[in-house]
Amino acid sequence: MKPVEIAKDIYSVGVTDWNIRDFHGYSTHKGTTYNAFLILDKKIALIDTVKKEFSDQLLTHIAQVVDPKKIDLVISNHTEMDHSGGLPRIMHRIGEDKPIYCSKLGSKNLTRHFRQKWNYHAVENGETLNLGSKTLTFLETRMVHWPDSMFTYLLEDKILFSSDGFGQHYAGSEKFDDQIGDEIMLHAKKYFANILLLYASNILRLVENVNRLNLDIDMICPDHGVFWRKDPWKIIHAYAKWSEQKPKRKAVIVYDTMWHSTEKMAESIAAGLIEKGIQTKLMHLRKWHRSDIMTDVLDAGAIIVGSPTLNNGLFPTVSDFLTYMQGLRPKNKIAAAFGSYGWSGEAVKQVQQSLQAMEFDVIEPAIRVQYVPGDKSLGQCFELGEKIAGKIKKNRTP
Ligand code: FEO
Repeated sequence: MKPVEIAKDIYSVGVTDWNIRDFHGYSTHKGTTYNAFLILDKKIALIDTVKKEFSDQLLTHIAQVVDPKKIDLVISNHTEMDHSGGLPRIMHRIGEDKPIYCSKLGSKNLTRHFRQKWNYHAVENGETLNLGSKTLTFLETRMVHWPDSMFTYLLEDKILFSSDGFGQHYAGSEKFDDQIGDEIMLHAKKYFANILLLYASNILRLVENVNRLNLDIDMICPDHGVFWRKDPWKIIHAYAKWSEQKPKRKAVIVYDTMWHSTEKMAESIAAGLIEKGIQTKLMHLRKWHRSDIMTDVLDAGAIIVGSPTLNNGLFPTVSDFLTYMQGLRPKNKIAAAFGSYGWSGEAVKQVQQSLQAMEFDVIEPAIRVQYVPGDKSLGQCFELGEKIAGKIKKNRTP
């Protein structure tokens, strides 16, 4: 796609990765973009680059706006290589001595990635840079998404270049939120649930800082997906809400099954929840990607996990999901374990221990059924669903 002038003398020059479907374990059903921005002023600045394999495309886009050699400086908001992989190619083209503005940790991390003695200018939080008629302010945003992350705020145009923050893995012909509608919030939610949830407390502090700084924001330009211009505060408020992790009247049942026994149990638990008016989702681990499940877990009041016992342990997909969820550290959940087994039956206990390790409010006893559940066992599952429903209603924030 061609560069787009998103405000006067400010161009989006990044690239679209239409066909990526797996972003280190996150399912990108809609592809993604690696956004980069060119600011034309007395000094010309490039904000961020792209994945290494798209470097030539980035240079082509830049060249459609200005001779790349005229770029005076590069701003690296984030070291992860989907935004820095193009740096060696860019620096080679624009001049290896041109300054790279980044956070202190950015200069360390870029050095660790590229082993180049580039002209780093490590900025302080709140430091400003005048380009001529435009003023940039650098805001430290550690752990959104890496220790080196920072935002860059453009005062005169009221644009916040937010790196990974407020991003979405979405590839399309649209450039702005208002060209898509509410669907984009679902992509933003998935992105938050799978990439930033672990850093929810940092995000809450970040949102407080943004509020305290009283920044005038007309547009937020993340490094992935579309730009927020219709109502930029909508995504900031959504981040605050998601970070708080207040549970909704919603339950997610995640399971795998070998001969449908654990599945029958899952369905009975779901029936108990639904009977009591809880929004319920039943997610088979070989039908749903772990990252889509996490999107639903984000605001659920309960997570109920079922596993058959395979070879004296957890079914592999359940193990995978529990490891993934534990890493993201969701909070404020009621939880329960269930599953069927043949003779040894260790899996349910292991699920339960894993849920306890995540500091969820785990309901005991877990339900374990040998071979195939009969009416009595399915009745217990139904009752478990009802019991969880009661607890969700009690815990739910009005
Ligand atoms: Fe889009 Fe943390 O990189």
